[in-house]
Amino acid sequence: MASALEKQIPRQQDVQADELRKTLGQQFLQQIIDNSFDSIFVTDRYGNVLLANAGTGEFMETKTEDMVGKNVKDFVKSGVYDWSPTMEAIKTRSLVSGIVRNKHGVQQMATSKPLMDEGGDIIMIITNARDKDLVDQYIAALDKERTSVHRYKTAVEYLSEVDLENKEIVAESQQMRKIMRISNVIARTDSTVMLIGETGTGKEVMARHIHRNSLRSKEPFIPVNCAAIPHELLESEFFGYVRGAFSGANPHGKPGLFEIADKGTLFLDEIAELPLAMQSKLLRVLESSEVQRLGDTKTYHADVRFIAATNRDLKAMISQKLFRSDLYYRLNVIPISLPSLKDRTEDILAFAHKFLEELNRKYALKKQFSTQATQLLFNYNWPGNVRELRNVIERLVITSAGDILNFEDDSLVNSKTRLESAESLPSINTRYKGTLKDVIKAVEGEYINQVLTECGGRVGEAAKRLGIHRTMLYRKTIGR
Ligand SMILES: Nc1ncnc2c1ncn2[C@@H]1O[C@H](COP(=O)(O)OP(=O)(O)OP(=O)(O)O)[C@@H](O)[C@H]1O
Ligand SMILES: [Mg+2]
Repeated sequence: MASALEKQIPRQQDVQADELRKTLGQQFLQQIIDNSFDSIFVTDRYGNVLLANAGTGEFMETKTEDMVGKNVKDFVKSGVYDWSPTMEAIKTRSLVSGIVRNKHGVQQMATSKPLMDEGGDIIMIITNARDKDLVDQYIAALDKERTSVHRYKTAVEYLSEVDLENKEIVAESQQMRKIMRISNVIARTDSTVMLIGETGTGKEVMARHIHRNSLRSKEPFIPVNCAAIPHELLESEFFGYVRGAFSGANPHGKPGLFEIADKGTLFLDEIAELPLAMQSKLLRVLESSEVQRLGDTKTYHADVRFIAATNRDLKAMISQKLFRSDLYYRLNVIPISLPSLKDRTEDILAFAHKFLEELNRKYALKKQFSTQATQLLFNYNWPGNVRELRNVIERLVITSAGDILNFEDDSLVNSKTRLESAESLPSINTRYKGTLKDVIKAVEGEYINQVLTECGGRVGEAAKRLGIHRTMLYRKTIGR
């Protein structure tokens, strides 16, 4: 716009105000600027008003036509407003911005820009101004947006590390079904949950399940591995800091985990690894919900649901003074113990089939467990629990040549298996040997395996189809 105007203005040394007004086609221009939301105000290089719109008139409480021809210095002298950015722009020959107050204290954010000719002489000064409250509101809204964008950006950094597959939870066994029933109820509350279980039993899976079924499911789920954060960084990670809090920090400050998880769920994994000093700080947040960034003077309310997890014996740690008992009781509001896989054998085959199905789908395969594989999987004691099971199946699928999955090596047999030997196990397509009783047993085994496969490892369903009780099915599978 400035350049278009510039073209219309004759390049003369000393242009009179009247002439300028003519050149600008004043009536038309007046209409345009009167319809502008901002206050607009144009003076010549001495500060004599050439043009002013209705917005300016309102702010100065003067009719626009009365303003034209007057000098801005007179407005300041008579107290119409407290200072003139136009005069500053003339003096400094550069853009000037600032807050101008009228006699009632109403504030405008004004910017005056000198327009120069080719010789570098000022032709006129264009000022526009906007209600300061509006500007403030706009800045506050922008700030809020920036904070939440920052919060989500940080949340995304946490989330990207996590595998988001496997939304479905396997719960075939009585124990797991009971746990699912409890979890689905407590998910809807805001109570703190403590998940206890050996490595690989699905603590994180359960924490995510609870979050997904909670009223907070649309808000972030932030998993934090307490063992993975260096001790000296724990406080700034959890609480965040304001700009300039300490050297080497992010110059814009950083939101803490409590802030990032606000309205959502904070999953404190490996909680036993938190040092005592940090345990006290966490306890304070759990008790008050008040959080303060490092270097900040104000606190804010953190609306966070906590889920903690551990594979350690916290009670024993309390007696060794390694874990605060008050924190333990704060976290242990709803304890959920996830049983080891060997204590919920009904889940083993269901998991095995689920993982096999996933791999078949992923690699477009049609692999199936042999009777031998089924029995070995079922009988192994799984010290690494579900995670180990998943890895074993993946390895089996990748290393086996045909469509029938057999354990060629004795990896499962060696690792403290509860089965004495796998050698006597029949495998598909063998020619049957031995007594009629042996053959019947072998055929029975193969048929049970086939039905188990068809039922996706769900023992209850397989037993129903076979017309036997599930305990009988177990006996037949384990006892082989
Ligand atoms: N009930 C379940 N349904 C489906 N997948 C499961 C289930 N439980 C565990 N898994 C799978 O087993 C693996 C281990 O689970 P997870 O990471 O939740 O265990 P964890 O108890 O947190 O282990 P750790 O203590 O070692 O961190 C994951 O790959 C997960 O997908
Ligand atoms: Mg875990």
